[in-house]
Parts: sequence; structure tokens; C-alpha cells
Amino acid sequence: MNMKKKRNLIDIRDLSTKEIDELIEVANDIINHKEKYSHKCDGKILATLFFEPSTRTRLSFESAMLRLGGKVLGFSEAASSSTAKGETLADTICVVSGYSDIIAMRHPKEGAPMVASKSALVPIINAGDGGHNHPTQTLTDLLTISIEKKKLNNLTIGLCGDLKFGRTIHSLITAMSRYKNIKFILISPEELKLPEYTKTEVLDKNHIPYVETTDIEEYMNELDILYMTRVQKERFFNEADYVRLKDYYILNKDKLVNAKKDLCIMHPLPRVNEIATDVDDDPRACYFKQAEYGVFIRMALIMKMLEIK
Ligand code: CP
Repeated sequence: MNMKKKRNLIDIRDLSTKEIDELIEVANDIINHKEKYSHKCDGKILATLFFEPSTRTRLSFESAMLRLGGKVLGFSEAASSSTAKGETLADTICVVSGYSDIIAMRHPKEGAPMVASKSALVPIINAGDGGHNHPTQTLTDLLTISIEKKKLNNLTIGLCGDLKFGRTIHSLITAMSRYKNIKFILISPEELKLPEYTKTEVLDKNHIPYVETTDIEEYMNELDILYMTRVQKERFFNEADYVRLKDYYILNKDKLVNAKKDLCIMHPLPRVNEIATDVDDDPRACYFKQAEYGVFIRMALIMKMLEIK
């Protein structure tokens, strides 16, 4: 029997640069011609299996499928699924494969989507696994950068906050390291520095220049993008450490006085306290637009995974 191999998106490296560029192109076309896409997924079902909380990722996936004419089912917490009765992830995925055409899943354990892909009969999309990866947030980020900066090359990118546990950071660095003339400014407290393996395996290996600092203002005047992140409370073993570090960086208007006029301020959201609300009406604040762009890139991704032209 000639069994066709299904595609999964577990890690941003599962997509070539050409495929990412095509997804961005399709997402832009969707933004400009929404009506053209409103029946592309007629008769298709997306399952969203979220074993960890989410607002943007789950609802933007669901919005994406509904806007494509498809339908959605799923759960938003493990407690409301049979996981609470002790069902294994493999069994859950095997069963839901029979109820849907494509699955987007989030799980607190690193590697869970990879494990799920082994027992799935339909494409699996990683919607965030522990402190590991968040490839569809990265696609959202790349679409945002390409729209707001009109390019993905020649950029100095400041990454600020929890660079240790922030899965969006790890996926974004991996993706951006494929583009030309990228420089990273890594801004974090000592305890939340980017893991060594990301520095050696991604940055050093691809000869990407970077500097590390604890001072958010030190390189502010050089940045094209400032990507803020929240301290990932759910990854801490010790509440006291979280409390000590959670407000380490609070971006406000005063800290932006030396920033470029065309700086793009991003945040995957949710924000807790790391961007003061007085920044929200600054024209350089892109984080709410970024959340909206997530729908369009996920529409493009769903079509790609389902091989719909
Ligand atoms: N950016 C992001 O993953 O947000 P949610 O946790 O709300 O899905």
C-alpha cells in the first residue's frame, strides 16, 4: 500500500525557509482578500487539545478554521478531558484522530507533541510544549516583522525578559538565524539567561552575533525590534524566585526616549507587568496587531498542512 506521509509541525525547523516565506505570502493574501478563503476548509474539522491554559493560540486557531469554513472541537484544559481519569496522551490522540482532520495541541511537557505525532493519523501542530518550542507563535512573529519592518533581514533584535523558559524566544531565535545580517541583544537577569545549548547550537553554529546584558536601556538606540516576554511563572520550582524576578523589566515611555522612531515593540502576550499600559498608544507598540496577525498565518498553515491550495 502507498501510504502518504503526513506533515507535522513540531519545531519551526520542520519548515524550510522557502515554506515559511510562502506561508507569509499566503497570510498577506488572506489579509487582503479574506472572502477568497472563506470556503477553503469546508467539511474539515480542527481539534484543539489544550492541556495548558491559552487565550490567543487556541482561539486564533479556532478563528482561523472557522474563517476557512471548517469546524472545530476540543478541550481547553486537561481536567475536562479523560486525561483526568488517567488516559495516556497516545490513546487520546489516536481517538481524536478519528474525530478530526488536523490537531493543534498544547502540553506542559516538552516533547509531548512529538510523542503525539507518533500515534496520530492526522497532522499534529505543536501549539506550545513546556519551555521548549512554540512554532506557530514564531510564524506569527515572522509575519508581524515582515509587515511592520517590510523585511526579515538586516535587523537588530532585542529579546528581553525570561530567555531561559520563554519557548517563543527559543523558536524565534531558531527561525531568525536563517535570515541575513541578524544581530541579537539578549536582555535578561542572570538567572534567566538564554540556555547555553541555544547559544552554541543555534547562534554560534550560524555565526549570529549577539551580546548579553541585564540593562534594558543599554542598547535601546540600536534596536529595530524589542521583543518583550513575561517571566514564566508556571516553569518556576520556587515561588520566591518568581516573585523576586517577575518585575525585573517594566518597559514604559521613559525607557523608550533613546529608541528608534521606527522601533517595533513586540510581545507574544499575555503580558503581566512587563509593558506599562502607557506604551500601548505609542505607534511603535505592535503587540495587539501581532496577536491579530496570528489568525492569518494559522489560516495559511492549516491550508498547507491539509494540502489545500
Ligand atoms: N502567545 C501565546 O501563546 O498566548 P496564549 O498563551 O494566550 O495562547
